Amino acid sequence: MDQKIFESPAPEVCASKIFEASGAKFDADVATDLWQKIMQHKWILSERLNRDVGFRIACNDFLENIGTDEELATHNQEKLLVQMGARTISRDIWDTISDTQPPKQLIQKRIVLPLIEGDLSRKHGVIPPKTIIFFGPPGTGKTHFVKAMAGRLAWWFIEIAPSMLMIDGVDRIGAHLREIMEKVRGLDEVVLFIDEFEEFAGSRDSANRVDRSITNEFLKQVPLIKSQGNKVLLVCATNYIRQLDAALLRPGRFDCIIPVGTLDDDGRRTILEYYLAKMNTGIIDMDRIVPLTVKFTPADLEYLFQIVAQHAFEMECESRSNIPVTTDMITEEIAAFRPSLTEAMVEEFKEDVATYSRV
Ligand SMILES: Nc1ncnc2c1ncn2[C@@H]1O[C@H](COP(=O)(O)OP(=O)(O)O)[C@@H](O)[C@H]1O
Ligand SMILES: [Mg+2]
Repeated sequence: MDQKIFESPAPEVCASKIFEASGAKFDADVATDLWQKIMQHKWILSERLNRDVGFRIACNDFLENIGTDEELATHNQEKLLVQMGARTISRDIWDTISDTQPPKQLIQKRIVLPLIEGDLSRKHGVIPPKTIIFFGPPGTGKTHFVKAMAGRLAWWFIEIAPSMLMIDGVDRIGAHLREIMEKVRGLDEVVLFIDEFEEFAGSRDSANRVDRSITNEFLKQVPLIKSQGNKVLLVCATNYIRQLDAALLRPGRFDCIIPVGTLDDDGRRTILEYYLAKMNTGIIDMDRIVPLTVKFTPADLEYLFQIVAQHAFEMECESRSNIPVTTDMITEEIAAFRPSLTEAMVEEFKEDVATYSRV
């Protein structure tokens, strides 16, 4: 005899059959999850009615009474979050950025506080921002600040990588962008991060047909995000603010356009101390090091200390005696290091700050 007859079908097969019969439509994975709950419900309902109810009745009763809209909405939200690669970010990132490092205080006052002090911001007629651009030279900490903000707010962090949009070729980028934005409208407490924004939203004058359609899609999506009630922050970052379409930069589209640029002595000192704390060091003369790192970005400082740490590690592997990092070891590496920022970049950034920032 055929063995298969006695095997019970997989839960998703049962689930989709029952749902089909009841006229409800769900994605296979939602159906499988619901199936577990319906099995439970079948048992509870049988107890309550004091008779063995069938799957069909249990399913209908569940959908009508137990599977409330709210429950399904939560379920769909969770599914969407997973699908979109949502992550939680530790609050540590925010806490380890020095309060004096721009634009931390600005973000705190203009973005974080209005969002977490909802009642107070309403009382004063302050409208929390929903759409933000961070601009500044590479490695200055734009991505770092976006993550820090998500961690500080304790919101989900979703990054849209170019690959997510290009999955079906360039012609479908605009359509994918629209789909992503539609999905995000079903979520709450989300920081949606688009890096390398100029890649998508370049100037329509200079761009080709495809770029234009993406910029146009953005111009449609930004007001939609702004008009909806859920807590979503769209944050875009760019190294090249000048390449963005002027239409996107007009007031009313992005609420804040925030520069993330050069570090002052204090800012560099905090980052230097942060990385030094993770290393095997002797006494370090910070007053000698800080002035030598004027054109260093946070990313440069991070890389510099990787080199120093590797060096000390190799020396200790060879000598087998404790090799603490010294001030001289650091200054030697600094002398050989080419920092990212040039005078021309700093000047250009200053001009951009004057032309584009809006806070
Ligand atoms: N206080 C800080 N501010 C900004 N970046 C920091 C700080 N401390 C460490 N970093 C590191 O410096 C690098 C900055 O790079 P990133 O944020 O990717 O820059 P961008 O997005 O502007 O290119 C990251 O690796 C980040 O972890
Ligand atoms: Mg970045």
